[in-house]
Amino acid sequence: MKTIDKTKPVLVTGATGYVAGWIVKKLLDQGITVHAAVRQPDNEKKIAHLKKMAKEAKTAIKFFKADLLTKGAYTEAMQGCELVYHTASPFVIDVKDPQKDLIEPAEKGTQNVLESANKVTTVKRVVVTSSCAAIYTDCTDCAKAPNGVLTEEIWNTTASLDYRPYSYSKTLAEKKAWEIAESQNRWDLVTINPCLVMGPPPNPHATTSESFNILRQLGDGTMKLGVPKLGMGVVDVRDVAEAHLRAGYIPEAKGRYITAGHNTDFLEMGLVLQPKFGKQFPIPNNPIPKWLLMIVGPFANKLFTHDVIRNNVNVAWKADNSKIKKELGMSFLPLQKTMEDGFQVLVDEGILKAK
Ligand SMILES: NC(=O)c1ccc[n+]([C@@H]2O[C@H](COP(=O)([O-])OP(=O)(O)OC[C@H]3O[C@@H](n4cnc5c(N)ncnc54)[C@H](OP(=O)(O)O)[C@@H]3O)[C@@H](O)[C@H]2O)c1
Repeated sequence: MKTIDKTKPVLVTGATGYVAGWIVKKLLDQGITVHAAVRQPDNEKKIAHLKKMAKEAKTAIKFFKADLLTKGAYTEAMQGCELVYHTASPFVIDVKDPQKDLIEPAEKGTQNVLESANKVTTVKRVVVTSSCAAIYTDCTDCAKAPNGVLTEEIWNTTASLDYRPYSYSKTLAEKKAWEIAESQNRWDLVTINPCLVMGPPPNPHATTSESFNILRQLGDGTMKLGVPKLGMGVVDVRDVAEAHLRAGYIPEAKGRYITAGHNTDFLEMGLVLQPKFGKQFPIPNNPIPKWLLMIVGPFANKLFTHDVIRNNVNVAWKADNSKIKKELGMSFLPLQKTMEDGFQVLVDEGILKAK
C-alpha cells in the first residue's frame, strides 16, 4: 500500500502516445506536474498538444529525451517522482522484424525503466500499461478459460514470436515487470491491462497507435463490403486514463487490472456508428462469412491467417472487469459514445471525408 504525494512530479514514459496523452491531460488538470519522457522533444508535431494541455491547465510539463533501448535513459526524468507511469511500447501489428520492432522495446524497455526505478529512491509506485494481450491471444482462449471468461489470474500462453508477436511482446514485458518488482520492496507495481482502446485521439495528425488505424478504416471505405465478426473487448481511452490515475493514487490498488468496458466484436463497433455517420461514410454493416474469409482473408490481409480467422471470427470475447470496478470504483462509457466521439475527431480534423 502506497500513498503518493500529489505535489510531487509524475513521470509518464511515451507521453506522445494515444493513451498517454489522456493520462497527461488528467494529471495536468489536477495540477500535478508531469515529467514527459519522449523520443523527440524537439518535434513540435508530436508534443504541441501536450504543451497546449499544460497551458490550459496552468500546470507545468517538462520534457525529457528518452528511448526505451538506451540504458538509463529514464533516470533523469524520474528524479523527484514518487509515481511512474510506463506506457511506452510499440502498438503496431504489421512489423518486419517482430524481435527488433516489438519484443525488444517492450521487454528490454520495461526492464530499463524499472531498473531506473530501482535506482531513484523517491519512487514508491510504478503503473505499467500492460494489455489484455498479456492475458490472451485468441478468442478461443476465452472459451478455454475457467467459466469461459478471462480474469487477472490468466496469463497468455499461446502467443509467440511467429504467432501474434504483439501479444507476445506485452506478455514478456509484463512478466519482466513483475519479476523486477518482486525482487525489491521499496516500490509497488500495479498493471493496467486494457483491451482494444477506442475513442478520441488527443493528437490525431501524429498518432501511431493501431487503435487509430482501426478507427480510420471503419470510415474510409477499407471495410465497406463488410467486416469479420471478430470477438474483442473495447474500452474508452478516457476510461483507460482514469484507470491509470486511480491505479496510481489509490493506496490499496494492487496487482493486475483488466480494463475492459465492453465484450463486443468488430461488427458491432461499426454498427453503433451507423445512426450518426452511416449515411455519409462507408461504415461496414454486415458480417463477412467465415467460410469466405478462410478463402480470401489471407490474400486480402497477410495478418488474416487461417489460424487467426479460425480462432477469432464468430468466437465471443469475454472478460471479467469486476476487479477494477470493485477496487478502483471504475465505470465505463457506453460503446456508442466511445466510437462516435473518436470518429467525430477524425471527421472534424479532415482525416475522414464524407462520400
Ligand atoms: N491502444 C490500444 O488498444 C492498447 C490496448 C492495450 C494496451 N495498450 C498499450 O498502451 C500503450 C500505449 O499504446 P498506444 O495505443 O497509446 O500507442 P501509441 O500511440 O503508438 O504510443 C506508443 C508510445 O510508445 C512510444 N515508443 C515506441 N517505441 C519507443 C522507443 N523505442 N523508445 C521510446 N518510446 C517509444 C511512442 O513514442 P513515439 O511517439 O516517439 O513513437 C509512443 O509514445 C502501449 O504500452 C500499448 O501496448 C494499448
